[in-house]
Amino acid sequence: MRQWSEVDDRLAGPSGRAYRVLIVEDDDDQRQLLGAALSVEGFQTELAGDGLEALSKLAAFDPDVILTDLSMPRMDGFEMLAELQRKESSIPVIALTGFGSVERAVAVVQELKAFWFLEKPVKIGVLLPLVERALSQNHLMRESERLNRELSMQGFLGKLVGTSPAIQQVFSLIRQVAPSSASVLITGESGTGKEMVAREIHRLSRRAPGPFIAINCAALPETLIESELFGHEKGSFTGAVERRAGVFEQSHGGTLLLDEIGEMPVQTQTKLLRVLEDLKVRRLGASNEIGVDSRVIAATNYPPEKAIQKQQLREDLYYRLNVFRIELPPLRQRKEDIAPIAEAMIHHMNQRHATRVTGLHADALSGLERYDWPGNVRELRNVIERAVILAGEGLIKDKHLNPDRPLPLPKLAASGDGAITLKPGLPLSEAEEAYIQLTLKYTQSNRRLAADLLGISLRTLQNRIAEFREKAAKAGPPAVASYGSAAGR
Ligand SMILES: Nc1ncnc2c1ncn2[C@@H]1O[C@H](COP(=O)(O)OP(=O)(O)OP(=O)(O)O)[C@@H](O)[C@H]1O
Ligand SMILES: [Mg+2]
Repeated sequence: MRQWSEVDDRLAGPSGRAYRVLIVEDDDDQRQLLGAALSVEGFQTELAGDGLEALSKLAAFDPDVILTDLSMPRMDGFEMLAELQRKESSIPVIALTGFGSVERAVAVVQELKAFWFLEKPVKIGVLLPLVERALSQNHLMRESERLNRELSMQGFLGKLVGTSPAIQQVFSLIRQVAPSSASVLITGESGTGKEMVAREIHRLSRRAPGPFIAINCAALPETLIESELFGHEKGSFTGAVERRAGVFEQSHGGTLLLDEIGEMPVQTQTKLLRVLEDLKVRRLGASNEIGVDSRVIAATNYPPEKAIQKQQLREDLYYRLNVFRIELPPLRQRKEDIAPIAEAMIHHMNQRHATRVTGLHADALSGLERYDWPGNVRELRNVIERAVILAGEGLIKDKHLNPDRPLPLPKLAASGDGAITLKPGLPLSEAEEAYIQLTLKYTQSNRRLAADLLGISLRTLQNRIAEFREKAAKAGPPAVASYGSAAGR
């Protein structure tokens, strides 16, 4: 009895069909033998005599696993693997190596990302568990892709949160572009999540086990930026006391985020473009070039089209980076995201600060939704972090949101609804009462906020309201004015 149920049930593969193994081997006897052994085990097999034949059969046969010899005529296993990598195939490959070529096989696993290798002569008892492991890894990957898709429908993509149609569209772009090696340009105001999106693209790509390196082009002095990007040899400039690899080399096999791309000096942009085209870098002061394999993601919070007009961004570099564009809308244009992002952040901050906050009070949430968030999600995160610490437990209320600096409210409507008419001769106390009433209406009876706006203490405001109520009670008819809740929230 095999442990893994999917393989156990071999004749019912992913879509109810048998699992398919493509066997690539130039030795006729070996090929037939392997084919027969796997068929007996219930796999559907297809045979190819070299890499070229294998590639030509790929689309029609649609294998779940490829088993390949390394040295073969016409196209050997290395070239075939490189081609599969170019095609961004996710089919696991098991390489078969002849005696003494284990180093080459290891290179195949490390550089060409083969699933594993087996020394010849192949023992079927060793091959079978390996094929099963390759299948189960592939199955797990597909399963995790499926789960990711499901989670994103509930408003999550990795650490990114949001249910608005705009952010859901961003999630779907991320999922589409991640598996390829295409350059991506991410634009959006500061704090909209550009770096998070770049990290998510890396996480969902086959480069995930490799490094993710981010470099902020705006934070580097012009004199250092090229050495940061491309590296330098010892003594190549004053201060270059040691030889150093640049970020291109450091991110080899992974992803490189070039943040604030519009801030990069124009001559450096020319050099960057060359690296992107040739996939080779030359360290400052070096005579040779080094091949690099980094996926480049660029980000900017300044509209790139404007940067081109101002001649701050080279147009040809822009076209090279803009292969795939992800635009992050400002938070004020996707206010539905405020509630789920705030909830996720409360959860996160509870862990960080050992607090027991359970959520947002409805009034607090509507306050957050009325605000315009010029600092976008970063600003929201800061506000929530502070509120979580202040509240400590239970619900976050208005008073926790920003006790020192009330959240600015939308500008008063120009209609008569938001104005009082002042006539000469109106007693000061009446003008004051009307003005306080108007302000309370504006803050939706939030007394603390009203006191802040009026520039008086909450206690003074409460005393005034008590006086107005007393006066109204003495005057006879019940007061119609609303002075907010006595709790003074
Ligand atoms: N959709 C989101 N879900 C959850 N958290 C988010 C989301 N978007 C952004 N954040 C949070 O906002 C903060 C800022 O995000 P990020 O650093 O990616 O922004 P940015 O666009 O790169 O900003 P800048 O232009 O200032 O560099 C992050 O720390 C992250 O916590
Ligand atoms: Mg950033």
